Amino acid sequence: MISRRTLMAAAGFAMGGLVAIPASAQETVKIGLILPMTGPFASTGRQVEAGVKAYMALNGDTVAGKKIEVVLRDDGGVADQTRRIAQELVVNDGAKMLMGFGLTPLAMSVAPVLNQAKIPAIITSATTSAIMPQSQYYVRTSMGGPQSAVPVATWAVQNNLKKVVTLVSDYGPGIDIEQGFTNQFKKDGGTIVEAIRVPLANPDFAPFLQRVRDAKPDAVFAFVPAGIGAQFMKQYVDRGLADAGIKLIATGDVTDDDLLNGMGPVAKGVITGHFYSALHDSPENKAFVAQVKKAANNMRPNFMSVGGYDAMTLAYMALKKTNGDTDGTKLIEAMKGATWVSPRGPITIDPTTRDIVQDIYMREVKEVNGELYNVEFATFPKIKDPNAK
Ligand code: PHB
Repeated sequence: MISRRTLMAAAGFAMGGLVAIPASAQETVKIGLILPMTGPFASTGRQVEAGVKAYMALNGDTVAGKKIEVVLRDDGGVADQTRRIAQELVVNDGAKMLMGFGLTPLAMSVAPVLNQAKIPAIITSATTSAIMPQSQYYVRTSMGGPQSAVPVATWAVQNNLKKVVTLVSDYGPGIDIEQGFTNQFKKDGGTIVEAIRVPLANPDFAPFLQRVRDAKPDAVFAFVPAGIGAQFMKQYVDRGLADAGIKLIATGDVTDDDLLNGMGPVAKGVITGHFYSALHDSPENKAFVAQVKKAANNMRPNFMSVGGYDAMTLAYMALKKTNGDTDGTKLIEAMKGATWVSPRGPITIDPTTRDIVQDIYMREVKEVNGELYNVEFATFPKIKDPNAK
């Protein structure tokens, strides 16, 4: 059989050999997607995967003449596994980009792999500020450090919540968020009554929430990573904090869209700051939510899912810009300064820090059409990670 390529080459020859057949026409570009698909943070894995798939369903699996193949691997939320898998994806599978990383330690673990292989890693989920300087090949579509906490501090003082206890998971993002909130809150005239850090793994919030209750603040400001919020919310109510009139304010990780409906009416009225609500009113978001629901058994996307969707947007934009060249250094250069409208709103990749610049919304949990949503009521535009250098 004569292939289309042979025929085209023959045509080119007949015309004086001027038709160039791109050698790369049929090449596949592999993207290694590493996520916790099992273990306590499996909801993050499931959500990011849904976001990646939604992007490809809406935008196709070809860009700049290359076929895109996403290779998904489960690290179970264990950093040693993340690094081993990253190495395998680069060496054995020939992955040209890596993506995912459900938690800060998992993202951190791959820095040496990136520095050696010189290929980009797009962080869809982890948020700690200190990740980014570890490799010039990190780029981020989740969030940077205390981006979401700072506006909550300002809102709290403006709304007469002047004595606050902070309660955060005791690791990178929690510490960034505690510091970001505290700095802004004090600047605005608030007082931190107590700063509590709770263990990340299998947290029992009860004794910590009792401490909050005893301190009698106006509010507790909380951060726990996505997947843990429902547990936190239940214990907040069980310990009688709501009844004692201690208001809950938080980053949007606590009222994450994946779990929010399951939290029930207790979540109503909780005020949070974050970069994404499934109810965000834009055509981009409506198309995104509809696609995820259609493909993932009616699952509502959360901010992790958007991180995955935007990671794919960035990968496609970079390949378009390099004309399909998969050299890692060219790809990371092509990602710097990328600007687009995400389902979350307008975003940019800062060309210096490779971190995301995005709008942060203040939201209140409300019932809308019989479901609970984070309803946006104020926008803090173009927020950068205040720790980013
Ligand atoms: C992180 O580990 O960096 C992380 C995970 C989940 C979140 C936020 C931060 O919701």
